[in-house]
Amino acid sequence: MKPDPTSGTSVPITIESHLGSGTERRLADDVLDGLTHPFKELQPKHFYDARGSELFERICKLPEYYPTRTELAILEANAAEIARTTGAEELVELGSGAATKARLLLGAMRDAGNLRRYVPVDVSESALVGAAEELFGEFGGLEVHGVVADFERHLGEIPAAAGGRLVAFLGGTIGNFQPGSRRRLLRDISGLLGPGDHLLLGTDLVKDPEVIEAAYDDGAGVTAQFNLNVLHVINRELHADFDPGDFDHVAFFDREREWIEMRLRARRDCRVSIADLDVVIDFDAGEEVRTEISCKFTHARLASDLASAGLELRGWFEDPDGLFAVTLAGPIGAEPRT
Ligand SMILES: C[S@@+](CC[C@H](N)C(=O)[O-])C[C@H]1O[C@@H](n2cnc3c(N)ncnc32)[C@H](O)[C@@H]1O
Repeated sequence: MKPDPTSGTSVPITIESHLGSGTERRLADDVLDGLTHPFKELQPKHFYDARGSELFERICKLPEYYPTRTELAILEANAAEIARTTGAEELVELGSGAATKARLLLGAMRDAGNLRRYVPVDVSESALVGAAEELFGEFGGLEVHGVVADFERHLGEIPAAAGGRLVAFLGGTIGNFQPGSRRRLLRDISGLLGPGDHLLLGTDLVKDPEVIEAAYDDGAGVTAQFNLNVLHVINRELHADFDPGDFDHVAFFDREREWIEMRLRARRDCRVSIADLDVVIDFDAGEEVRTEISCKFTHARLASDLASAGLELRGWFEDPDGLFAVTLAGPIGAEPRT
């Protein structure tokens, strides 16, 4: 608890969870669908238990993984302008993770004299609670309202805006969705925005495939551990008996669709029992399960995705090497606040 200077009362860190017992059911349904398709597939959000979130933080520090340091540098250079042009008082961050980038935005909003509240939203409770506590300590007087939730299902649970809103969706996470789902999610996110509000979107850009592939297949094997973590999650949550040693990490850039794919490839014929689903799944040697796509963007792709969600591009910030872009968007036709 901390004192609220305006009322003399205490403003706590609030953490709400919308992932209850239904969460395992959701994982179960996703796994049952995904592993009974002719081409097996699992959704990337299931990587992120506490270990998955820690592994992702390690990935962010790898020399091959350019997106995190590049996006951070873009934000360092432009956070003040973003805070000034949006006039935002509240930062809602979808898939907030360790909230390293939020720090920069919150600092700029505070310097602009507008900061009122931070609303991180993530499926990983451990990552969200850790980040909320750190930022609460660092930004004395800041209200933090964390929402442990799935942004594909629970955007309606985000509290009503406490002033001009900036919704940040960083880290290239939007690229994890296939084109139609991506547009649907952007439409849902645009529903969080009032006329003077903004979306800040981080997207990885199309570039030399070798650079992209190295970022998803690092020499130290951390991305491989992250990829295999989904099998540990299924073993623990659904009482399955995957042997992660039976699978190899695979990452390649699909040049036609311009997205990276991560897959798990069976090293040998194997049979896995998933007790909670009462199913047995067979894998042939060499068979692959897709575990993530990560779409890479061009200006045109992004503008047309945003337009399909009723949003227009208001700002484009990229690094000097054109690796990554952070864009500012707002509802089409609405007057920006400033
Ligand atoms: C690629 S990481 C990005 C983390 C951070 N925003 C960054 O830029 O470094 C994706 C984050 O989104 C979260 N996430 C993935 N799918 C989610 C979903 N459907 N709902 C809520 N959070 C999700 C993960 O737990 C993870 O923290």
